[in-house]
Parts: sequence; C-alpha cells; structure tokens
Amino acid sequence: MASHPETPATLPVVEAYTRWAKTYDTDENFLLRVDNELVAEVLSQLLSTSTKTVVDLGCGTGRNTAKLLGFASVDQVLGLDVTEGMLDVARTRPEVAEGMREGRLVLGVWDVMGSDPLPFGNEQPVVDALISTLVLEHLPSLDTFFHRVRQLLRPGPGTWVLVTNMHPVLGRKGGANFIDETNGGTRTWTAKYVWGTEDVLAAAARAGFAAMQGVGDKGSGVWVRTVRDEEHASRLGAGSGKWIGKEVLFGMALVTTE
Ligand SMILES: C[S@@+](CC[C@H](N)C(=O)[O-])C[C@H]1O[C@@H](n2cnc3c(N)ncnc32)[C@H](O)[C@@H]1O
Repeated sequence: MASHPETPATLPVVEAYTRWAKTYDTDENFLLRVDNELVAEVLSQLLSTSTKTVVDLGCGTGRNTAKLLGFASVDQVLGLDVTEGMLDVARTRPEVAEGMREGRLVLGVWDVMGSDPLPFGNEQPVVDALISTLVLEHLPSLDTFFHRVRQLLRPGPGTWVLVTNMHPVLGRKGGANFIDETNGGTRTWTAKYVWGTEDVLAAAARAGFAAMQGVGDKGSGVWVRTVRDEEHASRLGAGSGKWIGKEVLFGMALVTTE
C-alpha cells in the first residue's frame, strides 16, 4: 500500500479538481459506484417520456452526462462545470465525444455560485430538466444553487431536477478528497459543506420546487442509499466495507410548482 504524507492539504474547488481530473474516474471511490447505481435507476424512470434539453450541472468528467446521452428521449444535453480540466477529461470519453460530434452535447465552463449567464452567447437554451450529481457538498449556498437552477429551467410547472449528494452520515466523516500526485502524493481536500435532505428540500421549496411524488423511497421523491451488505461492498470496492448498513448517498427528484 502506498504511504502518503500525514498532513492533508486543502485547496479551492477549481484548483483541487484541476489536479484531480486525470485520476477522478480511476480512483478507488465507492461513492461513484453507489451514485452510478442510483442515477441509472432514477434516470430510466424520469426520462421514460420525451425530455428535450437536459443540463448536467457540475458534470465533471461526464460520468452521468454519458448516461443522459444514452436516452433516445433526450434531444440535447448541456454539460456545465466550473473546472475546465474536468471538462477536458470529459471530452476524451467516447460517448461524450460522439455526443459532441452529433451536435447533441455542448460543454461549457460555468459557476453556479457566480452571476454570469450561461456560456452560450445570445442563444440561451430552453431547459426542460437538470441533473446535478455529487456537487452540493462543494456549494456554500443551496439557496443560490436553486435560485440559479430555477432561472435555467423553462418557466412554468412540471420541469424537474435530480440532485444526488454525499449523505451527512458519510459527509461528517470525510468529504471529497484525492491523492495529489503533483504534490508528492499528498491527500488533498477541498472545502466541504454537509447538507442533508431537509436542508435541500427547504432550499428547493424557497425557489419554487417540491419533492416529486410517486418516485423514491415510499414515493417521497427522496432516495437514501446504504452499503447494503458484504456482497454489495465487494462490488463497490475498497473503503466501502466499513459503511455496511450506513447511509452514504441520497438522491432527490424535485419539480417546479409554478
Ligand atoms: C464530485 S465532482 C462530480 C462530477 C460529476 N457530476 C459526477 O457525478 O461524477 C464535483 C464537480 O462539481 C464541480 N463544481 C464544484 N463547484 C461548482 C460550481 N460552483 N459551479 C459548477 N460546478 C462546480 C467541480 O468542478 C466538479 O467537477
């Protein structure tokens, strides 16, 4: 096993993800696998009917952007992220490259915490739905997030948002971190914000969203995921065993109410 310096470093989000980008997809990170399972299941429910334009906000290396492109019901995908280096890696993903060639996918640098318009000039898109996976833990304000997301979506009721986030049970113990090979293999973190389902629901409600009924655990619009058992942990990989029976991820489907 590699040994790493004891003192962790903390970097701002863009700097951290610029350094992490190259290894993000190949690191042992069981949470990405839990998220893969949840997002694949939920998207097949939410995208069963035509959804023309979908944003992947904080799309990173395109892990879930590629899933969106796999749905024939989706005409166009817009992948947005504050870290150019993550988008550079996304462009090397075969499904992403093909989506761009076909004109079904556009990627752009954009900060949801900022005030800039979308990076698409005068052609501001009409957005029908939005996903944002494993991004909230980096955001200091859920109100800003949902306010900006509401502005991206077409006006009126019935547009939907899917967010996933590290569950507070896991978030309080850790947070996104990686081994920075450009800095002598130092374990490196970025600022983290521990948000739970109640925080997300409350901020979403203030921006005009409600939990989607009829999907999620007990039809609540919310999914909470654990590492289920030894067999599940063996599929999820290193680090997951100690989380058996504990909450590690939640997802939430929200709809605009007006
Ligand atoms: C853990 S990664 C998740 C990437 C991808 N959504 C996934 O699920 O694999 C978090 C991503 O959020 C992006 N991010 C963080 N803060 C952001 C912000 N304020 N605006 C847009 N993207 C942001 C980071 O650059 C990074 O790519």
